[in-house]
Amino acid sequence: MYSELETLKLAVVDDELGIRLGVSSILADMTMDIPDVGCRIRLQVSSWADGESFVGSLDSNVPQIVLLDSKLPGIGGMEILEGTLSKRPDVVTIMITAYATLESAVRATKLGAYDFLAKPFTPEELRVTVRKAIHHHVLAAQARRLMEEKRTVRFQFISVLAHELKSPINAVDGYLDLIRNRMLGDELASYDGMIERSSLRIAGMRKLINDLLDLTRIESGQRIRNPEPLVLEDLARAALEGQENAAREQGIRIDLTAEPGLSIHADRMEMEMIFNNLVSNAVKYNRPGGTVQVTLSRREDQVEVQVTDTGWGMSAEETARLFSDFVRIKNEHTRDIPGSGLGLSLVKKLSSLYGGSVEVESEPGVGSCFRVRLPFQLSSAGIGGAVLKETDHG
Ligand SMILES: Nc1ncnc2c1ncn2[C@@H]1O[C@H](COP(=O)(O)OP(=O)(O)OP(=O)(O)O)[C@@H](O)[C@H]1O
Ligand SMILES: [Mg+2]
Repeated sequence: MYSELETLKLAVVDDELGIRLGVSSILADMTMDIPDVGCRIRLQVSSWADGESFVGSLDSNVPQIVLLDSKLPGIGGMEILEGTLSKRPDVVTIMITAYATLESAVRATKLGAYDFLAKPFTPEELRVTVRKAIHHHVLAAQARRLMEEKRTVRFQFISVLAHELKSPINAVDGYLDLIRNRMLGDELASYDGMIERSSLRIAGMRKLINDLLDLTRIESGQRIRNPEPLVLEDLARAALEGQENAAREQGIRIDLTAEPGLSIHADRMEMEMIFNNLVSNAVKYNRPGGTVQVTLSRREDQVEVQVTDTGWGMSAEETARLFSDFVRIKNEHTRDIPGSGLGLSLVKKLSSLYGGSVEVESEPGVGSCFRVRLPFQLSSAGIGGAVLKETDHG
């Protein structure tokens, strides 16, 4: 929100001229660095001798910080706090009190005051209190902005999800209409194709829902995780076997090269998800008669799983958005290939959960190479194990 030098507006509302002049001159050249947010703040001070004119000014000019005298000639500070300022939770109010009784402090806090200054106060007391208020304002503004971003992301996620669920429902609905109206005559067998396509769309929807559940459990930390020593080559072989039929149908050859003795301390199901998604993509988006090369190797304190294919490949613009939820690259080759677009986003989330990474290199028409790196646990406490303990919510 702030970059470099930012100006915050501070209003002082007090009927004592001395206080107004004093506050203005003490705060006029004050600057404050907020390292957490990387910004520097300076203040622009305005002053008001009575509550009415201050409240009137709020229509056109709302300060971020208010120094508010609790006792004013007309409308009092407490009333302003309770009325006008209660509708502006983003304004940080410091009450100035002549007699700081516990009772008035409790009341003002309940009404939303952030802090107090008891008269008479020293310049240093003023500066300390105002600095605290500035810090509070900046962090609260940042928190509000993050909440807003989260809401937007959630909204986008739900919109895409709704769309992804609606299209198979519409398709099946359409087929049912055609069958209901006997569009192809009274022979039941004529509708086999439609029924088959409907089943496929429903299977796709079921997969999407299951993938979503996996994703949600992983992200919320609800999935019970069981880290155990796993031999990487075994995981790779199991994933290759799972894709054997699909590969055979397309005449695709899969090769595995594994550095011997590589193992990782991780949850079996999560590792299977990573391997299955990468290998299934390499087969699904390959060309007939193509090859898939899976290579397992050691890279310093990490293991590297590399899956290379000779498929349709992707442009740089396409690979840039590949790891987000629901992303599917639609073109003449991929149009009829079913998928939820959640596989790689799952791979990315799992990799980062383990303190690892995933990257892709791809060339249209030539093929793609996906590389996942994961910390493996060495003899006792490797990085993988340490990361896991933190996120292992059981
Ligand atoms: N090896 C690859 N070669 C070319 N394109 C790929 C490759 N892997 C993924 N893609 C593209 O990236 C998109 C996203 O892949 P991802 O694995 O996330 O989802 P999906 O395969 O469509 O569905 P799911 O994996 O959930 O069944 C795919 O739809 C495809 O267009
Ligand atoms: Mg996939």
